[in-house]
Amino acid sequence: MGLDHAATKPHEALAAHLEAKMRDVNALIRDRMASRHAPRIPQVTAHLVEAGGKRLRPMLTLAAADLCGYDGTFDVHLAATVEFIHTATLLHDDVVDESAQRRGRPTANLLFDNKSSVLTGDYLFARAFQLMVETGSLRVLDILANASATIAEGEVLQLTAARNLKTDEAIYLQVVRGKTAALFSAATEVGGVIAGADQAQIGALFSYGDALGIAFQIVDDLLDYQGDTKATGKNVGDDFRERKLTLPVIKAVAAATESERAFWARTIEKGDQRDGDLEEALHLLDKHGALDATRQDALSWSAKARAQMAALPDHPVRDMLDDLADYVVARVT
Ligand code: IPE
Ligand code: IPE
Ligand code: MG
Ligand code: MG
Repeated sequence: MGLDHAATKPHEALAAHLEAKMRDVNALIRDRMASRHAPRIPQVTAHLVEAGGKRLRPMLTLAAADLCGYDGTFDVHLAATVEFIHTATLLHDDVVDESAQRRGRPTANLLFDNKSSVLTGDYLFARAFQLMVETGSLRVLDILANASATIAEGEVLQLTAARNLKTDEAIYLQVVRGKTAALFSAATEVGGVIAGADQAQIGALFSYGDALGIAFQIVDDLLDYQGDTKATGKNVGDDFRERKLTLPVIKAVAAATESERAFWARTIEKGDQRDGDLEEALHLLDKHGALDATRQDALSWSAKARAQMAALPDHPVRDMLDDLADYVVARVT
């Protein structure tokens, strides 16, 4: 007990450093998530936004801009844009994944319905684009428009990769890079761009976000098997139920005996799942060291992220981003 500085989570250090700016970001989000014409929109957005979320992506944008010496206010617009795109993808993702819990609350699709989630997600996407147009930067628009297309491609690629035992680590990487890392890398990149950083720095920020996002999603996939619902605010076992070939399963399938392969074929390919199958899946993941090996991969992506910091200015925020790369692997929420 007592004060323990080592226990301060890196994203909390970053959050403390960016507190004033994040207040502006949250105010802007609240202002733009409402609609005067369709009462269902503020109901859905307030439900999700007021539940919090880690706000990792907007912090990345603010941090990148700060690190590169930005002293204007468009970083706030961009941070809100990035969080809106993220929130829109969550609304759509929970419909696609038929998820019941998000941020410790029932999902919007469960509480309202799929239609409300999809359409409010579309609304938030459009609001995100309005916000970024206000910055007047075509380059920023280009980056975030590309990222939005890439996220959608990643989610769609995952549809065909799921339920197919032939899905390998290369395809998994392509999915994760698209559905998750594309927004992380765009978030850091636009921070550098708005600050007028040089191309080497912008490139390093992009690569940092890319590697960080991959590590983040690998850990998300671990937490889907190993996590504590109270901490993650999401249900454990969603990926197994949805028959997704995430990294731990890909590794266990690669090492499977004949009878284990039959288990994966029944549960993942055929979708014939029975009581006790999730426990059996966990047992097989453990037996083949698939969870540990997955964590090792996350650590190596985290190290790749940290390696990018060498190209960036010596600055307290640089150290925080360095620590953040450790946090995304160590995190339990
Ligand atoms: C959830 O992202 C979606 C993934 C890419 C795994 P976060 O874990 O950042 O979600 P919130 O915003 O903190 O709820
Ligand atoms: C998250 O994918 C990626 C996007 C939201 C685009 P997941 O489906 O793995 O994330 P969670 O576990 O539902 O947050
Ligand atoms: Mg999901
Ligand atoms: Mg999903």
